Amino acid sequence: MTETGSLLQSLECRACCTEVDPHRPAGVCPTCGHALLAVYALSKLDARSWKAGLSSRTPSLWRYRELLPIQRQESIVTLGEGFTPVLPLSDVPEAPGVRVVLKDDGLLPTGSFKARGMSVAVGRARELGLHQLFVPSAGNAGVALAAYGARAGVRVRVYLPTKTSESIREACRAYGAEVVGVAGTIREAGAAARTAEKTLPSFDMSTLREPYRVEGKKTMGFEIFEQSPGAELPDAIVYPTGGGTGLVGMYKAFTELRELGLLERIPRLYAIQAEGCAPVVRALRDGAAAVRPWEDPTTVAPGLLVPAPFASERVLEAVRGSGGSGDTVSDSSLLDAMDRLAQRHGISASPEGAAPYAALESLTRHRLLRPGETVLLYNTGSGLGFSSARLRDALPRDESRRHLETPG
Ligand SMILES: Cc1ncc(COP(=O)(O)O)c(C=O)c1O
Ligand SMILES: [Zn+2]
Repeated sequence: MTETGSLLQSLECRACCTEVDPHRPAGVCPTCGHALLAVYALSKLDARSWKAGLSSRTPSLWRYRELLPIQRQESIVTLGEGFTPVLPLSDVPEAPGVRVVLKDDGLLPTGSFKARGMSVAVGRARELGLHQLFVPSAGNAGVALAAYGARAGVRVRVYLPTKTSESIREACRAYGAEVVGVAGTIREAGAAARTAEKTLPSFDMSTLREPYRVEGKKTMGFEIFEQSPGAELPDAIVYPTGGGTGLVGMYKAFTELRELGLLERIPRLYAIQAEGCAPVVRALRDGAAAVRPWEDPTTVAPGLLVPAPFASERVLEAVRGSGGSGDTVSDSSLLDAMDRLAQRHGISASPEGAAPYAALESLTRHRLLRPGETVLLYNTGSGLGFSSARLRDALPRDESRRHLETPG
């Protein structure tokens, strides 16, 4: 028995079935280069008593420690992350008859859900003896890695697209991280980072290129499970999708809970992307096995500007396996949704975090959400530091005009 009770058993590649020792640093599958995912000895867990005991534990994501990879208590790197509220939204004319709730991860340390993945992955990295970490990021992952890296006493380098806001760059530096600017999107930042770091003793913390960030994201699903009254999970979860780790994480949580006999039905997962960068939604609509890179990507939501998500097979599997699908939203509707969440509901959402709300009307019109159902909108990030008015001014003319013509 490990000190934390972690039941981590192996790392597994779902593409070629290679198994890897989880107690040594690992990136992608050594055989085929796909993502490695953690496997737990679920049969060793007394699921009913585990579930019954959860509510008496600290309200943080560490209450799920048996199904997380950290082995020793002292390896946990925490800033108090997890257990964010699920808030009911009343007066939602976009979705008549649908019960709408919102989970607010804007309240996490560093202001986004990226804290979940980085808390777990940084702790595990340090536990495995890694002291120098790097990440390409659209912004939030970089800030989260910088903060958790500082907390853990490890060195961090963040590769950011040069268009990233000054406040994000400053936030990374404020936590002591080194910042490198790269022209282009996160795709180019990733390529530049991997080239520059190739000969250095540093470890790549990119989305799904190491196995443990997704384990942290998994706690989104565990929390939704625990926070659902009468164990009635929402019928659907609407999620702003860039790299898709959140979807992979939640789906992994629900399948583990199902394997433990604690859950019968997995909520339908809906991937929401920006009209100007929607490779996952396109692949879902085309019935494709993997995602094709999106040409000329553009959106005001930096976290959704991911033209070529890595391990997209896992993202598509999560959406399809849950019975969900995808939809796109325009940049102007994202900004309208930010305003509505703030002004009608008192909720601060980033452009990404507002995307699920922006998609509500279309999902309801297409009967993907039906009267009598409960839908959970996932707000992945705080809107503090964003100005919807300034972002609207920066939209191309046809997009901002569309906003003026749309009755608010
Ligand atoms: C606020 C926010 N929401 C959503 C995303 C997309 O995340 P995922 O990789 O889970 O699709 C990001 C990624 O940068 C983000 O910063
Ligand atoms: Zn493989």
